[in-house]
Amino acid sequence: MSEQDKDSAAPWKATILSLYPDMFPGPLGTSLAGRAMEKGLWSLEAVHIRDFAEGKHRNVDDTPSGGGAGMVLRPDVIGSAIDHVTGEGDTRPRILLSPRGKPLTQEKVRELKDAGGAILLCGRFEGVDQRVIDSRELEEISIGDYILSGGELGAMVLMDAVVRLLPGVMGKVESGEEESFESGLLEYPHYTRPTVWEGQEIPEILTSGHHGKIAKWRKEQSIELTRERRPDLYAAWAALEKQSSGKKSKNFASIIGEGGAAILDRSNWARKPDVWSGKFDGLVFGTNASVIFFSTDEAGKGPQLHRHPYDEVFIIRKGKALFTVDGETIEAEEGQIVFAPANMPHKFESVGSDGLETIDIHVSNEIIQENLEE
Ligand SMILES: C[S@@+](CC[C@H](N)C(=O)[O-])C[C@H]1O[C@@H](n2cnc3c(N)ncnc32)[C@H](O)[C@@H]1O
Repeated sequence: MSEQDKDSAAPWKATILSLYPDMFPGPLGTSLAGRAMEKGLWSLEAVHIRDFAEGKHRNVDDTPSGGGAGMVLRPDVIGSAIDHVTGEGDTRPRILLSPRGKPLTQEKVRELKDAGGAILLCGRFEGVDQRVIDSRELEEISIGDYILSGGELGAMVLMDAVVRLLPGVMGKVESGEEESFESGLLEYPHYTRPTVWEGQEIPEILTSGHHGKIAKWRKEQSIELTRERRPDLYAAWAALEKQSSGKKSKNFASIIGEGGAAILDRSNWARKPDVWSGKFDGLVFGTNASVIFFSTDEAGKGPQLHRHPYDEVFIIRKGKALFTVDGETIEAEEGQIVFAPANMPHKFESVGSDGLETIDIHVSNEIIQENLEE
């Protein structure tokens, strides 16, 4: 960001309403967020809710109507506090940190970054009177499925996530864009020097200098990690991929009728017109199955040991094959079907002089393969 841009962009402004304003800026006063604040890229004002309470005891809370444990923050006190900090023409979103809220996501963080700031109400006790939540149109946001004792830490989490995305805060824009959640996937694993540490080497591909292969490896790692750890994110990502690849597919496959049925010409998957060899990615049809067509006339031929982050089914169309799946050997012949579960190392080779033809179905919208050392 140029000096001129910095001057013209108004800093992102957070106003916190809390019973513990002294907690702020807390950790946000140091490191990346602290330096950004010093540079004037964002500002924080913490306002004491009790300043808006009236009466001798300046009570901010009262017992829950209908009975029950704990106390509830009063609507009159909270209403006055919100009105006081909302300036003329202030369009910043008004947020109540609340375990009942919608989960804070990276998408929401980006939206808040673009909103110019936020008014953040930190609840305490049992929560906040519903009437003020409704009348002041507070958006409830949760930072996770657990209960904190107050909204202050939630507000800090939210601000930290936003501030690091503000222009001029992070060194390189890319360092934000490649991160977990930005592409709908978790990020791939990182490595740095020393090249060998406690006998463990950095994956060879990362020191190959081949940028295309590195990008492909990272994407595969991201997909696999997400599939394993966050099936919810994976499902959403796969559905989106399917949608967009379905659109791309029209370039290759001929669509038949309204229902989405399609046909792919042999010239679009086979390496040679007369050999059972080639492949297609399910992306072509926008579906979750890809196929490799394998054929050889020679005995002992077949792919090296490898694995995929999804299940694979082999249909023996012709001849005999010797499969190794997770160290087990399986002999299979024409008409038989072999199954290799996701992530299980496997290979096969043709047996005998009749040659071998297989149809290998990959349960994925694209073929992803990691070759392994034997
Ligand atoms: C003890 S909690 C109240 C919990 C409330 N009785 C419930 O069961 O939903 C007090 C305050 O902490 C904050 N808080 C607690 N957990 C939170 C979370 N997961 N995300 C955001 N804020 C939270 C809210 O501001 C809440 O009003």
